[in-house]
Amino acid sequence: MSRRPFRSGKSYGKLDRDGFIHRSWIKGTGLPDHVFDGRPIIGICNTWSELVTCQFHLRDLAEHVKRGVWEAGGVPIEFPAMSLPETQMRPTAMLFRNLLAMEVEESIRANPIDGVVLLGGCDKTTPGQLMGAASVDLPTMVVSSGPMLNGKYEGRDIGSGTDVWRFSEAVRAGEMTLKEFLGAESSMSRSHGTCNTMGTASTMASLIEALGMSLPQNAALPGVDSRRKALAHLTGRRMVELVEQDIKPSQILTREAFENAILVHAAIGGSTNAVVHLLALAGRVGIDLTLEDFDRLGREVPLLVNLMPSGKYLMEDFCYAGGVPAVLKEMGPVLRREALTVSGHTQGEIADQAQVWNREVIGTMAEPIGPSSGVWVLHGNLCPNGAILKPSAASPELLTHRARAVVFEDIEDYKARIDDPDLPVDETSILVLKGCGPKGYPGMPEVGNMALPPKLLARGVRDMVRISDARMSGTAYGTVILHVSPESEAGGPLALVKTGDTIEFDGPNRRLELLVDEAELARRRAEWEASREPSNFTRGWYRLYIDTVLQADQGADLSFLVGKSSADVTRESH
Ligand code: FES
Ligand code: MG
Repeated sequence: MSRRPFRSGKSYGKLDRDGFIHRSWIKGTGLPDHVFDGRPIIGICNTWSELVTCQFHLRDLAEHVKRGVWEAGGVPIEFPAMSLPETQMRPTAMLFRNLLAMEVEESIRANPIDGVVLLGGCDKTTPGQLMGAASVDLPTMVVSSGPMLNGKYEGRDIGSGTDVWRFSEAVRAGEMTLKEFLGAESSMSRSHGTCNTMGTASTMASLIEALGMSLPQNAALPGVDSRRKALAHLTGRRMVELVEQDIKPSQILTREAFENAILVHAAIGGSTNAVVHLLALAGRVGIDLTLEDFDRLGREVPLLVNLMPSGKYLMEDFCYAGGVPAVLKEMGPVLRREALTVSGHTQGEIADQAQVWNREVIGTMAEPIGPSSGVWVLHGNLCPNGAILKPSAASPELLTHRARAVVFEDIEDYKARIDDPDLPVDETSILVLKGCGPKGYPGMPEVGNMALPPKLLARGVRDMVRISDARMSGTAYGTVILHVSPESEAGGPLALVKTGDTIEFDGPNRRLELLVDEAELARRRAEWEASREPSNFTRGWYRLYIDTVLQADQGADLSFLVGKSSADVTRESH
Protein backbone atom coordinates (compact mmCIF):
# COMPACT_ATOMS: atom_id res chain seq x y z
CA MET A 1 0.00 0.00 0.00
CA SER A 2 1.35 3.40 -0.93
CA ARG A 3 2.15 5.70 1.95
CA ARG A 4 2.75 9.03 0.31
CA PRO A 5 3.00 11.98 2.67
CA PHE A 6 -0.52 13.07 3.50
CA ARG A 7 -1.88 16.48 4.45
CA SER A 8 -2.34 15.41 8.10
CA GLY A 9 1.44 14.80 8.31
CA LYS A 10 1.90 18.57 8.39
CA SER A 11 0.27 18.44 11.83
CA TYR A 12 0.87 14.93 13.19
CA GLY A 13 4.22 14.24 11.57
CA LYS A 14 6.19 17.11 13.08
CA LEU A 15 8.72 16.37 15.87
CA ASP A 16 8.53 19.81 17.43
CA ARG A 17 6.31 21.82 19.75
CA ASP A 18 3.52 22.12 17.16
CA GLY A 19 3.56 18.35 16.49
CA PHE A 20 3.45 17.69 20.24
CA ILE A 21 0.40 19.92 20.57
CA HIS A 22 -1.48 18.35 17.65
CA ARG A 23 -0.74 14.76 18.74
CA SER A 24 -1.06 15.08 22.49
CA TRP A 25 -4.51 16.58 22.42
CA ILE A 26 -5.86 13.88 20.13
CA LYS A 27 -4.08 11.00 21.86
CA GLY A 28 -6.19 12.10 24.81
CA THR A 29 -9.20 10.57 23.00
CA GLY A 30 -7.58 7.16 23.36
CA LEU A 31 -5.49 6.83 20.20
CA PRO A 32 -2.13 4.99 20.63
CA ASP A 33 1.26 6.25 19.40
CA HIS A 34 1.58 3.95 16.41
CA VAL A 35 -1.43 5.35 14.52
CA PHE A 36 0.53 8.55 13.96
CA ASP A 37 3.02 6.79 11.69
CA GLY A 38 1.80 8.67 8.61
CA ARG A 39 -1.37 6.73 7.81
CA PRO A 40 -4.31 8.73 6.38
CA ILE A 41 -6.68 10.44 8.76
CA ILE A 42 -10.29 10.11 7.58
CA GLY A 43 -12.78 12.65 8.88
CA ILE A 44 -16.36 11.50 9.34
CA CYS A 45 -18.54 14.59 9.15
CA ASN A 46 -21.71 13.61 10.98
CA THR A 47 -25.00 15.53 11.05
CA TRP A 48 -26.43 13.13 13.68
CA SER A 49 -29.09 14.61 15.92
CA GLU A 50 -32.20 13.67 17.82
CA LEU A 51 -34.10 16.52 16.19
CA VAL A 52 -35.49 14.38 13.37
CA THR A 53 -35.71 10.71 12.45
CA CYS A 54 -33.73 11.23 9.23
CA GLN A 55 -30.40 11.55 11.04
CA PHE A 56 -31.15 9.72 14.27
CA HIS A 57 -29.20 6.56 13.37
CA LEU A 58 -26.09 8.22 11.93
CA ARG A 59 -23.91 7.62 15.01
CA ASP A 60 -24.49 3.91 14.51
CA LEU A 61 -23.69 4.22 10.80
CA ALA A 62 -20.50 6.15 11.64
CA GLU A 63 -19.25 3.15 13.64
CA HIS A 64 -19.50 1.04 10.50
CA VAL A 65 -17.58 3.62 8.45
CA LYS A 66 -14.88 3.48 11.14
CA ARG A 67 -14.60 -0.31 10.89
CA GLY A 68 -13.88 0.05 7.19
CA VAL A 69 -11.34 2.83 7.70
CA TRP A 70 -9.42 0.84 10.34
CA GLU A 71 -9.53 -2.25 8.17
CA ALA A 72 -7.90 -0.39 5.27
CA GLY A 73 -5.18 1.12 7.45
CA GLY A 74 -6.58 4.60 8.04
CA VAL A 75 -7.56 6.43 11.21
CA PRO A 76 -11.23 7.48 11.44
CA ILE A 77 -12.06 10.65 13.36
CA GLU A 78 -15.70 11.67 13.67
CA PHE A 79 -16.81 15.27 14.08
CA PRO A 80 -20.23 16.93 14.12
CA ALA A 81 -21.87 19.31 11.71
CA MET A 82 -25.12 21.19 12.06
CA SER A 83 -28.19 19.01 11.60
CA LEU A 84 -30.91 20.56 9.44
CA PRO A 85 -34.18 18.84 10.37
CA GLU A 86 -36.44 19.76 7.48
CA THR A 87 -39.72 19.34 9.30
CA GLN A 88 -38.69 21.10 12.50
CA MET A 89 -36.79 24.26 11.57
CA ARG A 90 -38.37 27.68 11.29
CA PRO A 91 -38.69 29.70 9.18
CA THR A 92 -37.29 26.99 6.84
CA ALA A 93 -34.32 24.59 6.84
CA MET A 94 -33.25 26.09 3.50
CA LEU A 95 -32.25 29.29 5.30
CA PHE A 96 -29.44 27.27 6.89
CA ARG A 97 -28.16 25.14 3.97
CA ASN A 98 -25.41 27.64 3.23
CA LEU A 99 -24.55 27.95 6.93
CA LEU A 100 -24.01 24.18 7.09
CA ALA A 101 -21.94 24.41 3.91
CA MET A 102 -19.72 27.06 5.53
CA GLU A 103 -19.38 24.98 8.69
CA VAL A 104 -18.43 21.84 6.77
CA GLU A 105 -15.97 23.72 4.54
CA GLU A 106 -14.14 25.33 7.42
CA SER A 107 -14.21 22.20 9.62
CA ILE A 108 -12.53 20.18 6.89
CA ARG A 109 -10.06 22.93 6.03
CA ALA A 110 -9.02 23.74 9.57
CA ASN A 111 -8.48 20.18 10.83
CA PRO A 112 -5.66 17.71 10.08
CA ILE A 113 -7.63 15.32 7.90
CA ASP A 114 -6.87 13.81 4.51
CA GLY A 115 -10.31 12.90 3.29
CA VAL A 116 -13.87 12.99 4.52
CA VAL A 117 -16.96 10.80 4.61
CA LEU A 118 -20.14 12.89 4.78
CA LEU A 119 -22.99 11.41 6.79
CA GLY A 120 -26.32 13.10 6.24
CA GLY A 121 -29.63 12.62 4.58
CA CYS A 122 -32.32 15.14 5.34
CA ASP A 123 -33.16 17.45 2.44
CA LYS A 124 -30.69 20.26 3.05
CA THR A 125 -27.89 18.34 4.77
CA THR A 126 -26.89 16.45 1.61
CA PRO A 127 -26.38 19.54 -0.57
CA GLY A 128 -25.02 21.64 2.31
CA GLN A 129 -22.36 19.09 3.22
CA LEU A 130 -21.35 18.39 -0.37
CA MET A 131 -21.15 22.09 -1.27
CA GLY A 132 -18.77 22.67 1.65
CA ALA A 133 -16.63 19.63 0.91
CA ALA A 134 -16.47 20.43 -2.81
CA SER A 135 -15.10 23.89 -2.03
CA VAL A 136 -12.20 22.31 -0.09
CA ASP A 137 -11.66 19.54 -2.65
CA LEU A 138 -10.13 16.86 -0.42
CA PRO A 139 -11.15 13.27 -1.33
CA THR A 140 -14.80 12.91 -0.29
CA MET A 141 -17.49 10.23 -0.20
CA VAL A 142 -21.11 10.34 0.92
CA VAL A 143 -23.10 7.83 2.97
CA SER A 144 -26.74 8.87 3.13
CA SER A 145 -29.12 8.03 5.96
CA GLY A 146 -31.32 5.88 3.74
CA PRO A 147 -35.09 6.10 3.57
CA MET A 148 -37.63 5.11 6.22
CA LEU A 149 -39.64 1.94 5.78
CA ASN A 150 -42.87 2.37 3.83
CA GLY A 151 -45.63 4.03 5.83
CA LYS A 152 -48.50 1.64 6.64
CA TYR A 153 -51.93 2.93 7.59
CA GLU A 154 -55.35 1.32 7.57
CA GLY A 155 -54.18 -1.49 5.33
CA ARG A 156 -52.32 0.52 2.74
CA ASP A 157 -48.97 2.16 2.04
CA ILE A 158 -48.71 5.86 2.79
CA GLY A 159 -45.90 8.16 1.76
CA SER A 160 -44.01 10.85 3.70
CA GLY A 161 -45.31 14.27 2.87
CA THR A 162 -47.35 13.30 -0.20
CA ASP A 163 -50.08 11.73 1.92
CA VAL A 164 -49.92 14.60 4.42
CA TRP A 165 -50.89 16.99 1.61
CA ARG A 166 -53.57 14.59 0.38
CA PHE A 167 -55.05 13.92 3.82
CA SER A 168 -55.04 17.55 4.83
CA GLU A 169 -56.91 18.43 1.60
CA ALA A 170 -59.41 15.67 2.41
CA VAL A 171 -59.96 17.15 5.88
CA ARG A 172 -60.41 20.65 4.41
CA ALA A 173 -62.90 19.19 1.91
CA GLY A 174 -64.80 17.40 4.72
CA GLU A 175 -63.95 13.93 3.38
CA MET A 176 -61.75 12.78 6.29
CA THR A 177 -62.17 13.26 10.04
CA LEU A 178 -59.52 14.95 12.15
CA LYS A 179 -59.21 11.71 14.18
CA GLU A 180 -58.41 9.70 11.06
CA PHE A 181 -55.96 12.39 9.96
CA LEU A 182 -54.02 12.52 13.23
CA GLY A 183 -54.06 8.72 13.44
CA ALA A 184 -51.70 8.56 10.44
CA GLU A 185 -48.84 10.40 12.19
CA SER A 186 -47.05 7.46 13.78
CA SER A 187 -47.87 5.15 10.87
CA MET A 188 -46.25 7.45 8.32
CA SER A 189 -42.84 7.76 10.03
CA ARG A 190 -42.30 4.37 11.64
CA SER A 191 -38.53 3.85 11.42
CA HIS A 192 -35.30 5.79 11.25
CA GLY A 193 -34.46 7.26 7.91
CA THR A 194 -35.40 9.96 5.45
CA CYS A 195 -38.79 10.54 3.83
CA ASN A 196 -39.87 7.40 1.99
CA THR A 197 -41.27 9.17 -1.08
CA MET A 198 -39.19 10.54 -3.97
CA GLY A 199 -39.07 13.82 -2.07
CA THR A 200 -36.00 15.99 -1.79
CA ALA A 201 -34.03 13.66 0.51
CA SER A 202 -34.44 10.61 -1.74
CA THR A 203 -33.89 12.77 -4.81
CA MET A 204 -30.63 14.19 -3.46
CA ALA A 205 -29.42 10.76 -2.33
CA SER A 206 -30.18 9.45 -5.84
CA LEU A 207 -28.32 12.38 -7.40
CA ILE A 208 -25.34 11.69 -5.12
CA GLU A 209 -25.16 8.30 -6.83
CA ALA A 210 -25.72 9.85 -10.26
CA LEU A 211 -22.94 12.38 -9.60
CA GLY A 212 -20.66 9.50 -8.63
CA MET A 213 -20.06 10.68 -5.05
CA SER A 214 -21.13 7.47 -3.26
CA LEU A 215 -20.93 3.73 -3.71
CA PRO A 216 -23.77 2.18 -5.76
CA GLN A 217 -27.09 1.63 -3.90
CA ASN A 218 -26.48 4.52 -1.51
CA ALA A 219 -29.87 6.09 -2.23
CA ALA A 220 -32.39 3.30 -1.85
CA LEU A 221 -31.20 0.88 0.87
CA PRO A 222 -33.54 1.55 3.80
CA GLY A 223 -32.06 3.32 6.83
CA VAL A 224 -32.61 0.23 8.96
CA ASP A 225 -31.34 -2.32 6.40
CA SER A 226 -28.18 -4.14 7.49
CA ARG A 227 -26.84 -3.72 3.96
CA ARG A 228 -26.62 0.04 4.60
CA LYS A 229 -24.26 -0.71 7.48
CA ALA A 230 -22.22 -2.84 5.11
CA LEU A 231 -22.24 0.01 2.58
CA ALA A 232 -20.93 2.33 5.31
CA HIS A 233 -18.17 -0.20 6.09
CA LEU A 234 -17.21 -0.50 2.43
CA THR A 235 -17.23 3.29 2.12
CA GLY A 236 -14.75 3.61 5.00
CA ARG A 237 -12.50 1.08 3.32
CA ARG A 238 -12.73 2.68 -0.10
CA MET A 239 -12.20 6.15 1.41
CA VAL A 240 -8.66 5.20 2.45
CA GLU A 241 -7.87 4.10 -1.10
CA LEU A 242 -9.36 7.30 -2.46
CA VAL A 243 -6.98 9.33 -0.29
CA GLU A 244 -4.05 7.20 -1.36
CA GLN A 245 -5.00 7.68 -5.00
CA ASP A 246 -5.74 11.38 -4.34
CA ILE A 247 -9.06 11.28 -6.19
CA LYS A 248 -10.83 14.54 -5.43
CA PRO A 249 -14.38 15.82 -5.94
CA SER A 250 -13.10 18.01 -8.79
CA GLN A 251 -12.28 14.81 -10.73
CA ILE A 252 -15.74 13.36 -10.08
CA LEU A 253 -17.98 16.44 -10.32
CA THR A 254 -17.44 17.05 -14.02
CA ARG A 255 -19.84 18.37 -16.63
CA GLU A 256 -20.77 14.73 -17.50
CA ALA A 257 -21.51 14.00 -13.83
CA PHE A 258 -23.92 16.94 -13.63
CA GLU A 259 -25.54 15.83 -16.88
CA ASN A 260 -26.04 12.35 -15.40
CA ALA A 261 -27.57 13.96 -12.31
CA ILE A 262 -30.04 15.97 -14.41
CA LEU A 263 -30.92 12.90 -16.51
CA VAL A 264 -31.48 10.76 -13.41
CA HIS A 265 -33.50 13.60 -11.88
CA ALA A 266 -35.86 13.41 -14.84
CA ALA A 267 -35.96 9.60 -14.78
CA ILE A 268 -36.91 9.42 -11.09
CA GLY A 269 -39.42 12.32 -11.21
CA GLY A 270 -37.18 14.11 -8.70
CA SER A 271 -37.86 17.05 -6.43
CA THR A 272 -37.83 20.58 -7.82
CA ASN A 273 -35.48 21.48 -4.96
CA ALA A 274 -32.70 19.56 -6.67
CA VAL A 275 -32.55 22.36 -9.25
CA VAL A 276 -31.34 24.96 -6.75
CA HIS A 277 -29.01 22.48 -5.05
CA LEU A 278 -27.32 21.31 -8.26
CA LEU A 279 -26.92 24.90 -9.47
CA ALA A 280 -25.30 25.85 -6.16
CA LEU A 281 -22.99 22.80 -6.21
CA ALA A 282 -21.99 23.52 -9.80
CA GLY A 283 -21.10 27.06 -8.73
CA ARG A 284 -18.74 25.65 -6.09
CA VAL A 285 -16.80 23.52 -8.58
CA GLY A 286 -16.84 25.92 -11.52
CA ILE A 287 -19.18 24.00 -13.82
CA ASP A 288 -21.24 26.36 -15.96
CA LEU A 289 -24.67 24.84 -15.27
CA THR A 290 -27.83 26.82 -16.08
CA LEU A 291 -31.56 26.41 -15.61
CA GLU A 292 -31.80 25.72 -19.35
CA ASP A 293 -29.69 22.57 -18.93
CA PHE A 294 -32.50 21.06 -16.85
CA ASP A 295 -35.18 21.68 -19.46
CA ARG A 296 -32.99 20.57 -22.39
CA LEU A 297 -31.48 17.42 -20.84
CA GLY A 298 -34.73 16.44 -19.09
CA ARG A 299 -36.29 15.89 -22.53
CA GLU A 300 -33.83 13.04 -23.21
CA VAL A 301 -35.41 10.75 -20.60
CA PRO A 302 -39.00 9.77 -19.78
CA LEU A 303 -40.24 9.05 -16.26
CA LEU A 304 -38.75 5.65 -15.45
CA VAL A 305 -39.52 5.36 -11.76
CA ASN A 306 -43.02 4.91 -10.35
CA LEU A 307 -42.68 6.61 -6.96
CA MET A 308 -44.79 9.18 -5.12
CA PRO A 309 -45.37 12.03 -5.70
CA SER A 310 -45.17 11.45 -9.49
CA GLY A 311 -46.30 7.82 -9.19
CA LYS A 312 -47.46 5.14 -6.81
CA TYR A 313 -44.68 3.37 -4.90
CA LEU A 314 -42.19 4.19 -2.13
CA MET A 315 -38.43 3.96 -1.56
CA GLU A 316 -38.47 0.46 -0.08
CA ASP A 317 -40.08 -0.72 -3.34
CA PHE A 318 -37.45 1.21 -5.32
CA CYS A 319 -34.69 -0.56 -3.38
CA TYR A 320 -36.13 -4.03 -4.02
CA ALA A 321 -36.64 -3.13 -7.70
CA GLY A 322 -32.94 -2.40 -8.20
CA GLY A 323 -32.39 1.22 -7.07
CA VAL A 324 -30.41 3.87 -8.93
CA PRO A 325 -28.00 1.48 -10.73
CA ALA A 326 -31.03 -0.17 -12.37
CA VAL A 327 -32.21 3.26 -13.56
CA LEU A 328 -28.74 3.99 -14.99
CA LYS A 329 -28.98 0.70 -16.88
CA GLU A 330 -32.41 1.54 -18.32
CA MET A 331 -31.16 4.95 -19.47
CA GLY A 332 -29.01 3.07 -22.01
CA PRO A 333 -27.16 5.27 -24.49
CA VAL A 334 -28.38 8.47 -22.81
CA LEU A 335 -26.18 7.75 -19.78
CA ARG A 336 -22.82 9.55 -19.78
CA ARG A 337 -21.05 6.21 -19.35
CA GLU A 338 -17.50 7.47 -18.99
CA ALA A 339 -18.18 9.58 -15.89
CA LEU A 340 -15.94 8.34 -13.06
CA THR A 341 -17.34 7.56 -9.61
CA VAL A 342 -15.70 7.37 -6.19
CA SER A 343 -16.04 3.58 -6.41
CA GLY A 344 -13.29 3.59 -9.01
CA HIS A 345 -15.76 2.37 -11.64
CA THR A 346 -17.41 4.44 -14.35
CA GLN A 347 -21.17 4.89 -14.41
CA GLY A 348 -21.26 2.70 -17.50
CA GLU A 349 -19.58 -0.16 -15.62
CA ILE A 350 -22.01 0.24 -12.72
CA ALA A 351 -24.99 0.22 -15.09
CA ASP A 352 -23.74 -2.95 -16.80
CA GLN A 353 -23.81 -4.82 -13.47
CA ALA A 354 -27.36 -3.71 -12.59
CA GLN A 355 -30.70 -5.41 -13.05
CA VAL A 356 -34.37 -4.44 -12.74
CA TRP A 357 -36.42 -6.76 -10.52
CA ASN A 358 -39.85 -5.14 -10.73
CA ARG A 359 -41.24 -3.57 -13.91
CA GLU A 360 -44.10 -1.95 -12.00
CA VAL A 361 -41.56 0.23 -10.22
CA ILE A 362 -38.84 0.80 -12.85
CA GLY A 363 -39.93 1.05 -16.48
CA THR A 364 -37.97 1.06 -19.74
CA MET A 365 -37.19 3.82 -22.22
CA ALA A 366 -39.56 2.08 -24.68
CA GLU A 367 -42.31 1.56 -22.08
CA PRO A 368 -41.77 4.25 -19.47
CA ILE A 369 -43.88 5.02 -16.41
CA GLY A 370 -44.75 8.40 -17.87
CA PRO A 371 -43.72 10.97 -20.49
CA SER A 372 -40.64 13.16 -20.26
CA SER A 373 -40.81 14.64 -16.80
CA GLY A 374 -37.79 16.69 -15.88
CA VAL A 375 -38.50 20.29 -15.02
CA TRP A 376 -39.88 22.87 -17.36
CA VAL A 377 -38.03 26.17 -17.28
CA LEU A 378 -40.31 29.11 -18.01
CA HIS A 379 -39.48 32.62 -19.18
CA GLY A 380 -41.52 35.74 -19.78
CA ASN A 381 -42.10 39.18 -18.34
CA LEU A 382 -43.26 37.71 -15.02
CA CYS A 383 -40.01 35.74 -14.54
CA PRO A 384 -37.23 37.36 -16.60
CA ASN A 385 -34.57 35.06 -15.06
CA GLY A 386 -36.74 31.96 -15.06
CA ALA A 387 -39.24 29.91 -13.09
CA ILE A 388 -39.79 26.17 -12.95
CA LEU A 389 -42.61 23.65 -12.98
CA LYS A 390 -42.62 19.87 -12.53
CA PRO A 391 -44.95 18.56 -15.25
CA SER A 392 -45.18 15.01 -13.83
CA ALA A 393 -46.76 16.45 -10.66
CA ALA A 394 -49.13 18.82 -12.55
CA SER A 395 -52.60 18.46 -14.13
CA PRO A 396 -52.29 18.12 -17.93
CA GLU A 397 -55.38 20.30 -18.55
CA LEU A 398 -53.80 23.23 -16.65
CA LEU A 399 -50.47 23.24 -18.50
CA THR A 400 -51.89 25.89 -20.83
CA HIS A 401 -53.96 28.39 -18.91
CA ARG A 402 -54.93 32.05 -19.15
CA ALA A 403 -56.82 33.56 -16.24
CA ARG A 404 -57.12 36.30 -13.66
CA ALA A 405 -54.79 36.42 -10.67
CA VAL A 406 -55.77 36.32 -7.02
CA VAL A 407 -52.75 37.86 -5.30
CA PHE A 408 -51.42 37.43 -1.76
CA GLU A 409 -48.78 39.95 -0.70
CA ASP A 410 -47.07 37.55 1.73
CA ILE A 411 -47.67 34.29 3.59
CA GLU A 412 -49.58 36.03 6.39
CA ASP A 413 -51.92 37.64 3.87
CA TYR A 414 -52.47 34.24 2.27
CA LYS A 415 -53.21 32.51 5.59
CA ALA A 416 -55.57 35.29 6.66
CA ARG A 417 -57.70 35.20 3.51
CA ILE A 418 -57.55 31.76 1.83
CA ASP A 419 -60.37 30.27 3.94
CA ASP A 420 -62.60 33.34 3.56
CA PRO A 421 -65.84 32.25 1.83
CA ASP A 422 -65.99 35.71 0.21
CA LEU A 423 -62.54 35.47 -1.40
CA PRO A 424 -63.16 36.37 -5.06
CA VAL A 425 -61.79 33.13 -6.51
CA ASP A 426 -63.01 30.31 -8.72
CA GLU A 427 -61.39 27.19 -10.17
CA THR A 428 -60.03 29.08 -13.18
CA SER A 429 -58.20 31.68 -11.03
CA ILE A 430 -54.42 31.71 -10.72
CA LEU A 431 -53.19 32.01 -7.12
CA VAL A 432 -50.13 34.25 -6.80
CA LEU A 433 -47.99 34.43 -3.66
CA LYS A 434 -45.24 37.04 -3.12
CA GLY A 435 -42.53 37.51 -0.52
CA CYS A 436 -41.38 33.89 -0.32
CA GLY A 437 -38.04 34.01 -2.16
CA PRO A 438 -34.56 33.69 -0.65
CA LYS A 439 -34.48 37.29 0.66
CA GLY A 440 -38.18 37.74 1.21
CA TYR A 441 -39.18 35.06 3.71
CA PRO A 442 -36.16 34.70 4.27
CA GLY A 443 -34.83 31.34 3.07
CA MET A 444 -37.21 30.44 0.23
CA PRO A 445 -39.56 28.09 2.11
CA GLU A 446 -41.67 25.21 0.80
CA VAL A 447 -44.97 27.05 0.60
CA GLY A 448 -45.44 27.28 -3.17
CA ASN A 449 -48.00 24.45 -3.22
CA MET A 450 -50.58 26.69 -1.53
CA ALA A 451 -53.58 24.79 -0.14
CA LEU A 452 -56.69 25.59 -2.19
CA PRO A 453 -59.68 27.59 -0.91
CA PRO A 454 -62.03 25.27 1.05
CA LYS A 455 -65.05 26.41 -0.95
CA LEU A 456 -63.41 25.06 -4.12
CA LEU A 457 -62.16 21.86 -2.42
CA ALA A 458 -65.75 21.21 -1.29
CA ARG A 459 -66.79 21.36 -4.96
CA GLY A 460 -64.20 18.73 -5.87
CA VAL A 461 -61.51 21.07 -7.25
CA ARG A 462 -58.11 19.47 -6.55
CA ASP A 463 -55.68 21.59 -8.56
CA MET A 464 -55.23 25.19 -9.66
CA VAL A 465 -52.33 27.08 -11.25
CA ARG A 466 -50.24 28.60 -8.48
CA ILE A 467 -47.29 30.97 -8.94
CA SER A 468 -44.71 32.14 -6.40
CA ASP A 469 -41.06 32.84 -5.68
CA ALA A 470 -41.14 30.01 -3.10
CA ARG A 471 -40.08 26.37 -3.38
CA MET A 472 -42.31 23.40 -2.68
CA SER A 473 -41.64 20.16 -0.85
CA GLY A 474 -40.27 17.43 -3.08
CA THR A 475 -43.21 15.34 -1.84
CA ALA A 476 -45.79 17.85 -3.10
CA TYR A 477 -47.75 17.96 -6.35
CA GLY A 478 -49.97 20.24 -8.40
CA THR A 479 -49.67 22.75 -11.25
CA VAL A 480 -47.30 24.84 -9.21
CA ILE A 481 -44.94 27.38 -10.79
CA LEU A 482 -41.99 27.92 -8.46
CA HIS A 483 -38.68 29.76 -8.00
CA VAL A 484 -39.84 32.88 -9.90
CA SER A 485 -36.68 34.92 -10.42
CA PRO A 486 -35.97 37.64 -9.53
CA GLU A 487 -38.12 37.26 -6.41
CA SER A 488 -40.58 39.97 -5.40
CA GLU A 489 -38.41 41.16 -2.50
CA ALA A 490 -35.56 41.77 -4.95
CA GLY A 491 -37.86 43.87 -7.14
CA GLY A 492 -38.82 41.18 -9.65
CA PRO A 493 -41.96 41.83 -11.71
CA LEU A 494 -43.80 39.42 -9.37
CA ALA A 495 -43.87 42.34 -6.91
CA LEU A 496 -46.07 44.29 -9.34
CA VAL A 497 -48.90 41.78 -9.93
CA LYS A 498 -52.34 42.79 -8.66
CA THR A 499 -55.55 40.86 -8.15
CA GLY A 500 -57.53 40.94 -11.37
CA ASP A 501 -54.50 41.06 -13.70
CA THR A 502 -54.51 38.47 -16.46
CA ILE A 503 -51.66 35.96 -16.53
CA GLU A 504 -50.91 33.66 -19.45
CA PHE A 505 -49.16 30.34 -18.77
CA ASP A 506 -48.13 28.46 -21.90
CA GLY A 507 -46.26 25.40 -20.62
CA PRO A 508 -45.50 23.71 -23.95
CA ASN A 509 -43.85 26.95 -25.14
CA ARG A 510 -42.34 27.61 -21.70
CA ARG A 511 -43.90 31.09 -21.39
CA LEU A 512 -45.24 32.94 -18.36
CA GLU A 513 -46.55 36.42 -19.13
CA LEU A 514 -48.27 39.11 -17.11
CA LEU A 515 -50.68 40.77 -19.57
CA VAL A 516 -50.39 44.31 -18.23
CA ASP A 517 -48.99 47.10 -20.40
CA GLU A 518 -45.55 48.58 -19.86
CA ALA A 519 -46.73 52.04 -18.80
CA GLU A 520 -48.91 50.59 -16.07
CA LEU A 521 -46.06 48.36 -14.87
CA ALA A 522 -43.71 51.37 -14.73
CA ARG A 523 -46.26 53.27 -12.65
CA ARG A 524 -46.60 50.32 -10.24
CA ARG A 525 -42.84 49.99 -9.98
CA ALA A 526 -42.46 53.62 -8.89
CA GLU A 527 -45.20 53.06 -6.31
CA TRP A 528 -43.53 49.86 -5.08
CA GLU A 529 -40.12 51.54 -4.72
CA ALA A 530 -41.65 54.38 -2.73
CA SER A 531 -43.44 52.04 -0.35
CA ARG A 532 -40.32 50.01 0.64
CA GLU A 533 -39.71 49.67 4.36
CA PRO A 534 -36.41 48.80 6.04
CA SER A 535 -35.84 45.08 6.75
CA ASN A 536 -36.76 43.62 10.12
CA PHE A 537 -33.70 41.43 10.05
CA THR A 538 -30.78 43.48 11.23
CA ARG A 539 -28.36 41.04 12.87
CA GLY A 540 -26.66 37.66 12.76
CA TRP A 541 -27.03 34.97 10.14
CA TYR A 542 -30.33 36.40 8.82
CA ARG A 543 -28.62 39.69 8.02
CA LEU A 544 -25.66 38.05 6.29
CA TYR A 545 -27.98 35.76 4.34
CA ILE A 546 -30.34 38.46 3.13
CA ASP A 547 -27.50 40.76 2.13
CA THR A 548 -25.59 38.18 0.12
CA VAL A 549 -27.91 35.40 -1.08
CA LEU A 550 -28.13 34.85 -4.83
CA GLN A 551 -31.43 34.29 -6.60
CA ALA A 552 -32.93 30.84 -7.23
CA ASP A 553 -31.72 30.67 -10.85
CA GLN A 554 -28.16 30.82 -9.46
CA GLY A 555 -28.73 28.22 -6.75
CA ALA A 556 -29.39 30.58 -3.83
CA ASP A 557 -25.82 30.25 -2.58
CA LEU A 558 -24.23 33.22 -0.84
CA SER A 559 -22.41 35.34 -3.41
CA PHE A 560 -19.06 35.09 -1.60
CA LEU A 561 -19.23 31.29 -1.27
CA VAL A 562 -19.26 30.58 -5.00
CA GLY A 563 -16.05 28.79 -6.02
CA LYS A 564 -13.40 27.00 -3.95
CA SER A 565 -11.16 27.75 -1.01
CA SER A 566 -8.78 24.69 -1.24
CA ALA A 567 -7.36 22.50 1.50
CA ASP A 568 -4.33 24.72 2.10
CA VAL A 569 -3.93 26.53 5.39
CA THR A 570 -0.34 27.64 5.94
CA ARG A 571 -0.31 29.22 9.40
CA GLU A 572 0.04 27.26 12.65
CA SER A 573 -2.21 27.71 15.65
CA HIS A 574 0.48 28.44 18.23
FE1 FES B 1 -35.77 14.66 6.75
FE2 FES B 1 -37.88 14.35 4.96
S1 FES B 1 -37.82 15.39 6.87
S2 FES B 1 -35.85 13.63 4.89
MG1 MG C 1 -38.71 19.49 2.15
